[in-house]
Amino acid sequence: MSLTFTPLTPVFGARVTGVDMSEPMTDAVFAEIRAAFDEYVILILSGPVMNDERQVEFSKRFGPLEGTRGVNPASGTPFARQSNLDIESGDVIPADDRRMFYQKANMMWHADSTFKATPSLCSVLTARIVPPEGGATELASTRAAYETLSDSEKAEFEDLVIEHDFAYSRGLVGFTFTPKELETMGPVRHNLVRTNKGNGRKSVMIGVHAKSVVGWSYEKGRALLEDLLERATRPENTYRHEWREGDVMIWDNQSAVHRATEFDTAQHQRLMQRTTISAGTPIVPVL
Ligand code: OGA
Ligand code: MN
Repeated sequence: MSLTFTPLTPVFGARVTGVDMSEPMTDAVFAEIRAAFDEYVILILSGPVMNDERQVEFSKRFGPLEGTRGVNPASGTPFARQSNLDIESGDVIPADDRRMFYQKANMMWHADSTFKATPSLCSVLTARIVPPEGGATELASTRAAYETLSDSEKAEFEDLVIEHDFAYSRGLVGFTFTPKELETMGPVRHNLVRTNKGNGRKSVMIGVHAKSVVGWSYEKGRALLEDLLERATRPENTYRHEWREGDVMIWDNQSAVHRATEFDTAQHQRLMQRTTISAGTPIVPVL
């Protein structure tokens, strides 16, 4: 079988056709997908809704899965759940509920798990229930952001270290954690510049959890992080995905940032399920 990769924009992203995600995948097909992921940063596939087992099986081919902890309703499973539906009852969660407030933070440009000691390689998000309007996801290329830098800026930033802090980023939307929740968190440090192991392409790992540049004044660090985000989110470096049920999206958490957009949470249902693949040995592995 031969897959087809159709670019989504001139800068990044491809739609993949020629594979049925509801069937077991051969190693040869996965190898094509894995190479295309390095090249395109985001991949989108459509088809029948993937069940949990298939999603886990597919995701594990990229590497070890992170366990979900903390406040996400799917905590303790391999899934992170973005939904306005109660995980037990399936009822719509009221807009003023803490769980909905927590998800609002997804509307800020971010990359998943940059606040963890071991960052993430990629996420796999599957669309299980899609609202008739709204609820698109936007993505921006931080590989493209890196490429806009001058040679002297690239040299200057090459060895910078960024502090990422989940309590800081959730604090930006006024969300506060309980002391118990805070026990499992704390700032972590990662190199700003990331190099794709497959093709050597460089990017910057940024997004809302990136708080400061180690060794720089807070203001100077903020200015750089905001400048890099501005470069990534220029219209030509972004892609907006309007979901259809059954869509599967894979994004590179070190070469892209993404954000959720509004939908009418009182009128419509939305259920997206994410698996998150660690770039190394996850601190909270899936048991
Ligand atoms: C995520 C996420 C955005 C969305 O699952 O990591 O940010 O549109 N989702 O649900
Ligand atoms: Mn996310």
